[in-house]
This record gives sequence, structure tokens and C-alpha cells, in this order.
Amino acid sequence: MSVLPRSSVVDAVSRRRFLRTAAGVSLAAAWMPAASWARVLGANDRLNIGVIGTGGMGTAHVQSLVGKSAAENIKITMVCDLYRRRLRNAVKLIGGSESDGVMEYEKVLDNKDVNAVLIATPDHWHTKIAIEAMQSGKDVYVEKPLSHTIEQAIACRDAVRKTGRVLQVGPQRTSEARWWKAGEAIRAGRIGPVVWSQGSYCRNSREGQFNWTIDPDAGPESKGDGFVNWDRWLGHQWNLAPKIPWNPDHFFRFRKYYAYNGGVATDLMYHWLSPLLLAIHGQNGAYPRRVMSGGGQYIEKDGRDIADTMLLTADYDTHSVFLSSVMVNDVGVPEMIRGQKGQMEPDAKGWKISEQGAWKDDFRKSNGDMLKADPGKDQANFLLEAGGDKDGRDHENNWLDSIRGKAKPNCNVELGCAVMVAIKLGVESYRQSKVFSWDAKAEKAVAM
Ligand SMILES: NC(=O)c1ccc[n+]([C@@H]2O[C@H](COP(=O)([O-])OP(=O)(O)OC[C@H]3O[C@@H](n4cnc5c(N)ncnc54)[C@H](O)[C@@H]3O)[C@@H](O)[C@H]2O)c1
Repeated sequence: MSVLPRSSVVDAVSRRRFLRTAAGVSLAAAWMPAASWARVLGANDRLNIGVIGTGGMGTAHVQSLVGKSAAENIKITMVCDLYRRRLRNAVKLIGGSESDGVMEYEKVLDNKDVNAVLIATPDHWHTKIAIEAMQSGKDVYVEKPLSHTIEQAIACRDAVRKTGRVLQVGPQRTSEARWWKAGEAIRAGRIGPVVWSQGSYCRNSREGQFNWTIDPDAGPESKGDGFVNWDRWLGHQWNLAPKIPWNPDHFFRFRKYYAYNGGVATDLMYHWLSPLLLAIHGQNGAYPRRVMSGGGQYIEKDGRDIADTMLLTADYDTHSVFLSSVMVNDVGVPEMIRGQKGQMEPDAKGWKISEQGAWKDDFRKSNGDMLKADPGKDQANFLLEAGGDKDGRDHENNWLDSIRGKAKPNCNVELGCAVMVAIKLGVESYRQSKVFSWDAKAEKAVAM
């Protein structure tokens, strides 16, 4: 595995910052390769965006970005999907002409007027497009989870280090102010050393989870709006998924199949682990030492292969995280971060932080500034207020700010990759009934 020396990373980043200054533009023009033109973006220039994958989430991003185009000085100039109906819908939403919509993402990457791309394809495609986009000189927003495999996540992380491009991974909770406040509180010693934390993403439905609508006319044989480039969706030519005949359940409900994602772990647990690691370890997260999962497919047995009930424990060097995701009962375990001297639970206005009796003197000393009066024998607690988005900017806006050099991505690739490793080890632990440890030096999973 190649890892760039730190100085090269810093050089790449400073170079980009320099090229974005007005003075840098003319100098840059003299020597920059064509593929790097997207870098030369002044702070006030319009940012042209391509959205790749305009299904459920991609369409939501298109609508949101169109809505903020004037305020943010951005424009979606190209959209891409290999399902014609969704592509045409996206073209309509951006008010574009037919040529602004393409079925091959390479055409978006080849367009030098596109500065940045947002990728919302199913997981197995994420990093192939993200890496090629960065190599084409574009900044990237890639939906969660970062990848389908650990190798892909590491390759993407290394591509960011090498190219110095901006990359934001999609778990939007990492842009909520409360997680950054939680991190500050932890580092200020308000709950003592963190020992364990938990998060839950549970649902229930009569239809079967992820059994979303199938358009009856869709498929590779359709001549009209229903046309799907199925071979490309699978990506079997690039070993992204196995080649199989057209299967609408796989196309419309890919979350049900491990060939394309990790089921509830990648779809839902990723949303919790990202902000938890951000709060506990800071911006770049941390890699697990050992991961184990249990669960089963207890009720949803309709041909899918993912678990409907999954319980994952990830041990880090100094603490453990427990995550649960159940699709057949919606009562999860409450979110919580536990330290030796106190714990933090979410409150409508931020975090409620309470003491551990055995350490009450220490807790009260560390939190004297927040405790209003001496609570005597009662359990001391206080509210740490933290609402809304960090700096008032949502996850997309944080990406735009990062491209313009005004911020850093709230879920950068280092965090996105570290989260992916733990989540994917959890998936494999469940599937193979094995406990996995992580060899940090070799960056390899080891079955125990
Ligand atoms: N952050 C969030 O809250 C959130 C919410 C939903 C989905 N997501 C993520 O977004 C991604 C997409 O999920 P979805 O529910 O929108 O799926 P979807 O199936 O509705 O949409 C994916 C689209 O990508 C298209 N596509 C597939 N391969 C392509 C390729 N090579 N080139 C161009 N288009 C391609 C498909 O045709 C489809 O229209 C997933 O990775 C998912 O985890 C994130």
C-alpha cells in the first residue's frame, strides 16, 4: 500500500490553496495540465456541479442544490444516471436540456467545466467514480458509506492524500453542531475517559424493510423511459459485482443484497459510527482493534440475504462502541457516550451530561463552570446546549465551503475510511460468524 509522505500531502494542499488565489490563476494557467483546470476556482466564481446517480438520494441532493444555487453561487450543469426515467427527471429538475443528462459518468468527468461531482449511486460504484473524479481534477461529495469493500475505502483515502482534492463523505450527522460540542466536552475532560458508547437505528414496517416500489416497465429491454443499462449498473466488467440477469428487486432494492452493500450496517450503522468517532477521536476518527457482530434474518425472508437484526460491537484501543440496527422492531437503545466520571445523553437542546456517583467530586470540579448550584447528594447534571448545524452550514454547504477553501469537510476521507473499516468488519463478522481484528500496520483484516 502506498502512503504519501506527510510533506507531499501538505504540499498538495497548499498548492491548491495557492492556485485558488487570484494571483495564482494566471501563473497556474501557464503550466497546468488541462485536467487540472477545475482547480482554478476563485472564491467568488460559480461552482459547476455534476450529480452522478439520480435515484432517491441523488434526486434529493439535486433538489436541495438547485434550491441553494443563487445563495451559494452554484449550478448543476450535468446529471448522470443509467436509468433513463430518473435521468430525464433530473434534467427537468435542473432546468437543463437533453444534452445535460448522460448515462455514462465518464462524460461528466471529461467535462472540464464541471468543477465538482456528487456521487449518489449504490455503494459498489462509489469509489471507482470518486477516484476517477479526483484524478480528473474534480472535488467530490460521495454518499455514505464510503465504499463497498475495505480495499476500495483505503484506495479512495490514498487517492485523496495523493491528489489533495476535497472529498466529503455523506453521513450528514457529522455536520450537526452537537457532535462537535460533544467532542469539545470529551476533550475538556467533562466525563473523564470515554469507555463505551452506543447508537441505534431501528425501524419496523408491514411491507418488509427496503421493499420500495418497482417500476414495472423498467429493464434493459425497454425502449422508452424504462430503459436501464443493467450491465453497467452491476459493473461486473470492473469486478464491482457479479454478472447476473436483469433482476428488478436487485436494481430497485439493492440494500437487500450483500453483493452491492452491507445491509443495515452500511446503510444505517454508518450514520451513527461516523459522528461517534468524530466526537470521541476528532476529525480523522480511529481504526478499530477488534469487531464482532451478531444478529440474524429472523423475519424478513423474502429472498434477500441481509440480516433484519444486527448487533455490532467495535473495540477501539481505549473504548468500545455498540451499535444496533433492527428492521422488525423500532425501539432502539438510546444514544449515549459513557465516560468513567460521567455520561452524555442527547437532549432536545443538545446533551444532558450527568455524573457517576463514585467520581462525583472530580465531575463537579471539572464541570464547575456549568453546574448552577451545589446539587448536594443528588446526581449532578447539566445541559450542554448545541443545536442545528455546525457554523450554521449543512453537510452540502460544508462541502461547498471546503471546495472554496473556507472550511474542511466535516466527514473527511480519513474518518470515512476508518468508519468503513469497522462497519465492513462487522458485516463480515456477521456473515462469516468470525471475530475480526484489524492489523493497523498492514491495513488488513485478520480473522480470529
Ligand atoms: N445520507 C443519507 O441520508 C442517504 C440516504 C439515502 C441514500 N444514501 C446513499 O445514497 C446512495 C444511493 O441510494 P439511493 O437510495 O438513492 O439508491 P437508488 O437506487 O434510488 O439510486 C441510485 C441511482 O444510481 C444509479 N446508478 C447506479 N450505477 C450508476 C453508474 N455507474 N452511473 C450512473 N448512475 C448509476 C441508479 O440507476 C439509480 O438511479 C447509497 O449509497 C445510499 O447509501 C444516503
